Amino acid sequence: MTDNTTAPAGLAAGDRVAGRLYTDPEIFDQELTRIFERTWVWVAHESELPGPGTFKSTHVGKQPVIVTRDRKGELRTLLNRCRHRGASICEKPSGKANGFTCPYHAWSYGLNGQLRGIPYPDGYEGVIDKSELSLKKLRTESYGGLVFATFNEDAEPLEEFLGDARLWIDRFMKQGGGYPIKVLGKHQFKFRGNWKIQLENTTDGYHFPIVHRSWMASVDAETADMMSFMTDPAAITHDLGNGHSVMQMVPEHSDLDADDGTEPLQGRFDDLVAELSKTLDEAQVRKLVRAMHGTGFNLNLFPNVSMSSAFFRVLRPVAVDETWIEHVAIGPDGPPEVDAVNRERLRIHEHFQGPFGFGTPDDAEGWDRVQRGAQGAPEMPILVNRGIGRETRSAEGWPTAHVTDETGMRAAYGKWKEMMGDD
Ligand code: FES
Ligand SMILES: [Fe+2]
Repeated sequence: MTDNTTAPAGLAAGDRVAGRLYTDPEIFDQELTRIFERTWVWVAHESELPGPGTFKSTHVGKQPVIVTRDRKGELRTLLNRCRHRGASICEKPSGKANGFTCPYHAWSYGLNGQLRGIPYPDGYEGVIDKSELSLKKLRTESYGGLVFATFNEDAEPLEEFLGDARLWIDRFMKQGGGYPIKVLGKHQFKFRGNWKIQLENTTDGYHFPIVHRSWMASVDAETADMMSFMTDPAAITHDLGNGHSVMQMVPEHSDLDADDGTEPLQGRFDDLVAELSKTLDEAQVRKLVRAMHGTGFNLNLFPNVSMSSAFFRVLRPVAVDETWIEHVAIGPDGPPEVDAVNRERLRIHEHFQGPFGFGTPDDAEGWDRVQRGAQGAPEMPILVNRGIGRETRSAEGWPTAHVTDETGMRAAYGKWKEMMGDD
């Protein structure tokens, strides 16, 4: 392992990384350009952009962008930076508009980023060509309702980048119980730590019974039993390639269509079942209720989004020691009677992931402490070698080990090393 700051790739070595990866601002700056500005970054779920004129503002790495659906319904990602003197042209998190007008000198742009109007244009006669001053556009592609953008014109097509993770995205979307998935709501928080600490956490089954002891103690016995995967040999994690990984905590829910009908529905949902049964048939009710906790796996997509059981977790690197997280609750986009399902899903989400939840606040304490501890001995390794001696290959060829092993972290750092070392 080297301490040469010009070659950060040397700080990751398969089964370990230097603690300095969390604390060195130079490495952080290089990550923004070498990773976040070069690969596909998740920006939206299609349900957030339901029709022409809808938009949301977000970030790709540290750069502000607006995701829009233009008049023709096409998804666009535009840099949120006026071509005049650089002001942000939209500060609303989401909404509907015909276009965007910069608040500073009122240059106005269409939903596709084209510069449409300039006030008092006589000063620009013979000086500028409006057709050359569109908002900067990012490549935008979607898969399974997930919208990604990249600054890199040469990046591989999105589907290629997702590769084998596509199968797991398809499976994740089955939690709509036959209906499409929509965003129900979201909240944001920040923690005083490096973004990779969160990236590691999504497929870290090892911490679950330790950090989430209070959550386990706060739920009903059936839910606690469902999440007691520590000694279940069928609970495994796969390295899916390209930095992506999936951790199957409840393998019998990985493919919700594979239901032999023998698993009883949880007693906590008895009232919900009774309500849904007034209008929906038994098979439909079973599908919806069996998917209440999502798909039983966490899918981590390098570098900034995970599909975790029943929600999306989006990370945004802000500084070497500051990361913003967005938790996006999802549920079926169905007829009005499905509202009862979504109300209950939100309560489950709040109970673990909410600001006063029994899960995420405990995770965040762990992340903060990693950042604080990692100030010490920056070259001393962070170990990600758990289970390396029992890693095998699945039938699909994916490196695979137990759900408590650090296969997912090794997958992410393998991609990190490749991107950071590649000039
Ligand atoms: S900075 Fe946008 S119009 Fe001047
Ligand atoms: Fe956790």
